[in-house]
Amino acid sequence: MLEPKRPEPKRLFIETYGCQMNVYDSERMRDVLSPLGYAMTERPDEADLVILNTCHIREKATEKVYSEIGRLRVHKERRVAEGKAMTIAIAGCVAQAEGEEIIKRAPAVDLVVGPQAYHKLPELIARAARKTGERLAADFTAQEKFDALPARAPDGVTAFLSIQEGCDKFCTFCVVPYTRGAEFSRPLADVLREAHALAERGVREITLLGQNVNAYHGEGGAGFADLLRRLAAIEGVDRLRYTTSHPIEMDDDLIALHGEEPKLMPYLHLPVQSGSDRILKAMNRKHDGAFYRDIIGRLRKARPDIALSTDFIVGFPGETEKEFEATMQLVRDVNFASAFSFKYSPRPGTPAAAMMAQVDEEAKTERLQRLQALLFEQQRAFNADQEGRVLPILVTGDGRRPGQKHGRSPYLQAVHFDDTRAQNGEIVPVRILGSSQNSLSGVREEMALA
Ligand code: SAH
Ligand code: SF4
Ligand code: F3S
Repeated sequence: MLEPKRPEPKRLFIETYGCQMNVYDSERMRDVLSPLGYAMTERPDEADLVILNTCHIREKATEKVYSEIGRLRVHKERRVAEGKAMTIAIAGCVAQAEGEEIIKRAPAVDLVVGPQAYHKLPELIARAARKTGERLAADFTAQEKFDALPARAPDGVTAFLSIQEGCDKFCTFCVVPYTRGAEFSRPLADVLREAHALAERGVREITLLGQNVNAYHGEGGAGFADLLRRLAAIEGVDRLRYTTSHPIEMDDDLIALHGEEPKLMPYLHLPVQSGSDRILKAMNRKHDGAFYRDIIGRLRKARPDIALSTDFIVGFPGETEKEFEATMQLVRDVNFASAFSFKYSPRPGTPAAAMMAQVDEEAKTERLQRLQALLFEQQRAFNADQEGRVLPILVTGDGRRPGQKHGRSPYLQAVHFDDTRAQNGEIVPVRILGSSQNSLSGVREEMALA
C-alpha cells in the first residue's frame, strides 16, 4: 500500500534588525508558525515565507528595510515564474510606524504586522494567500499577543524573556513610545511559568527584556526586584540579567539586590545618552549627570565588581562642543566596560526632529570618533584586567577547533577556552590568559593547574 505523501515542509526565513526585543519576537514568530508546518531556512531565495523584523530607531535602520524588500522582490518574481510563491511579511517597528505606507510603496509586500500583533500572523498569511481582506495588523494588544503564544522551544543555554513592553518616557529623540505603545508589564505568574519552562529545557541564563525593563510592575504591587527574587528561586536558573533599564527606575530595592543576589550578574546596561545637563533636559531624560553618577556610586558600593555599559547619542540638536566635552568627562569619571554610541538621527514625528540648530553631519562624525576612541580604550582595558583571573564561565557551545569551548563570562564577555570535557550549560572555572576588545581567551582551571 502506498504511504500517504507527507506534505512538504514550508520554508520560513526571518531577518531580524534592531534590539533584543526583536530577537525575542522573531523567535516567538517562529514558534507561532511552526504548527502550520513552517521550518526555518537560512536562504531567503528558497523561502515560502520571508519575514523582515524591522527597526525604526535610526534612519539607516529604516532605509535597510526598503533596500531589502527590493532584493526580495527579485527572488519572489523568479519563484512566481517557476510556479512557486513567496509571501513577504514586514514585522517590527517600521511595520508599526509606516504600515500603510509600506503597502503603498512596496507592492511586493503581502502583509504588515506590528510588534504586538504577530499572533495574528496565521490569519494574515491565510488572507494573503486568498488575496482578500486586511493586510495590516498593527493594533496594540500586548496581553492578547502573549496569551496567544505557544510553549517555547529554546535552542541554547541562554534565552531572552520579554516581561515588559512599550514606553511612556517620551525622550524627545525616540520613536519607541510610538512604535511599541504604552508601558505594559506581563503578569507575574506568566513570566514565572515561562522561566520555569525555559529552565526545564536546559536554559541556565535568562535575560529579562523590556524597553524599560526595570519599570516592571506585577500584580499586588510586586516590583522589578521582587520579580528577580522569584526568578532567582527557580532551580536551574543560574544567572539573571536584564536590559534595558532607565536610570530613574533604579530604586533602592533593586540596587540593594545587586549586592544580595549572587544569581544577578555583575553587569548592567544603563543608558545615559549624554553627560550635559542641558542636553539631558532637552532630551527629556528626567535625570541629570549627578543623578546618574550617584546611582553608579551606589551600585558599586552594593556590588564592587559590577561592570557598566551604556548608550550615548552625539550631536543632539543644539549640542555645543562644551556640552559634548561633558559627555567625554562622564565617560572618564564612570569608566565603562562597554558602550553603544550613535550619531543623533532625526526621526519623523519626534519633538527633537523639529528643533532648530540641528548639528551638522561632519561635527557629529567627528564627535562620535572621539567618543568611540575613548570608549574602546576603556573596553580594551576592562578586558585586559581579566587576564590572570579565574572566572566562572557558562559554557554555550563548541569552540572553533576540537578541545575548545566557548562561553560567557559574568560580565557578558565572549570567552574561548581549552577544555575537553565541559558540557553546554555547565559553569566552569576558566583562567583568562588573553584578551582583545571583543573577547577573552583562556583555559579550564584544572587543566591550567595540571
Ligand atoms: N529603552 C532604551 C533604549 C531604546 S533605543 C532606553 O531608554 O535606554 C536604544 C538606543 O538607541 C538609545 O539608548 C539611544 O542611545 C539610541 N537612539 C534612540 N533614538 C535615537 C535617535 N533618534 N538617534 C540616534 N540614536 C538613538
Ligand atoms: Fe526611547 Fe527614552 Fe523610552 Fe528609552 S526611555 S525607549 S530612549 S523614549
Ligand atoms: Fe528598533 Fe523597535 Fe527595538 S525601533 S531598537 S526594534 S524597539
